[in-house]
Amino acid sequence: MDLQAHLELFFKHFGKPDQNPSIYFAPGRVNLIGEHTDYNGGFVLPCALQYGTYLIIRPITEPKIRLVSTNMDYQTEISLTDDIIRIEDQWVNYPLGVVDQFLKHDVPIGGMELLFSGDIPSNAGLSSSASIEMVTAFALNDLTGSNFSMIDLIKLSQKAENQFVGVNCGIMDQFAVGMGEKDHAIFLNCRTLENKMVPFRLDGISMVVANTNKQRGLADSKYNERVAECQLAVTYLSDLFDISQLSEISFMQFYKIQDQIPDEVIRRRARHVISENQRVLNSVACLWNNNILEFGALMNASHESLRDNYEVTGFELDTLVAEAQKIPGVIGSRMTGAGFGGCTVSLVMNESLDQFVGEVGKRYNQKTGLNADFYVAEASDGVKEIL
Ligand code: GLA
Repeated sequence: MDLQAHLELFFKHFGKPDQNPSIYFAPGRVNLIGEHTDYNGGFVLPCALQYGTYLIIRPITEPKIRLVSTNMDYQTEISLTDDIIRIEDQWVNYPLGVVDQFLKHDVPIGGMELLFSGDIPSNAGLSSSASIEMVTAFALNDLTGSNFSMIDLIKLSQKAENQFVGVNCGIMDQFAVGMGEKDHAIFLNCRTLENKMVPFRLDGISMVVANTNKQRGLADSKYNERVAECQLAVTYLSDLFDISQLSEISFMQFYKIQDQIPDEVIRRRARHVISENQRVLNSVACLWNNNILEFGALMNASHESLRDNYEVTGFELDTLVAEAQKIPGVIGSRMTGAGFGGCTVSLVMNESLDQFVGEVGKRYNQKTGLNADFYVAEASDGVKEIL
């Protein structure tokens, strides 16, 4: 990211080159395993990426918020004397949702100019939205001297997405973006927020993120549909167990009583969540024991369950994963994030990297007509001020 060029863009857009702005960065995230478990109070294992969103921000005296992005055409100016309202299908809902949350917490927000610039692909399942929310929340916290803790900012950003944007997401993305640590994955219990940084630097092995470049149409409404299906599963099971979330049931408990869920689709949704939860625990044990091959097998099993039980993969993700798994030197491969398009994550022996990118890219293109993009990802630090 060429910060100097972006600063010049900021001044070109907003003028007043004698008044210096501040600059913040929030990463995106990749989830290694534990998919669609967070809003069920389950376990996840994500890490923050080296890619993310840069925010150049400057307070102004007028009661206005001006929002511009170098990635999106849409830009806007809103007046702080009016109510903040959602703008259908626009990226500005992420920062505006955070401003709305600060106002709801009685933080006086003054006028400001903001320029966002991302080097993660948007809408690709790498949490560009959580990254925009968290960089805004972190910057506002700093500039208003609000003293919210990182956990407060994480919860507030999740609320912005739930209440303002309208996606009933869990807490994983905002948590990973806020708490990420270089060379570590975050083992997180999404019900209690208890967490442990797990060293994740694998000798001779790279973490490769591949983007299907499939447009994720209707992803938000399908996501909310899955959230509702899990709630229905809880309703069926609460005749037998005193639970409010699916993760409160162990794999063994579910195995014994699964037939009590009369609806076959809902049973499969619950089966995914509860087995995936167990897979996260097993994966952390594998990392602990340095058993990376078994870790890869769990990644593969996770994808299979997301495909067959949870039905959030689709042809493009399935093809990219299947082609990846054929390459010798691939330890494991799965979709990452919400699904319905977006990205896969694979662990690849370094000596197989060129073959991986070449052959998987070629076969994926032959089968889908799309070109995949490949990134070697590094587990990185969370949100921070950079200038
Ligand atoms: C999206 C949501 C997360 C999580 C994942 C699926 O990224 O924002 O909260 O539910 O999907 O694991």
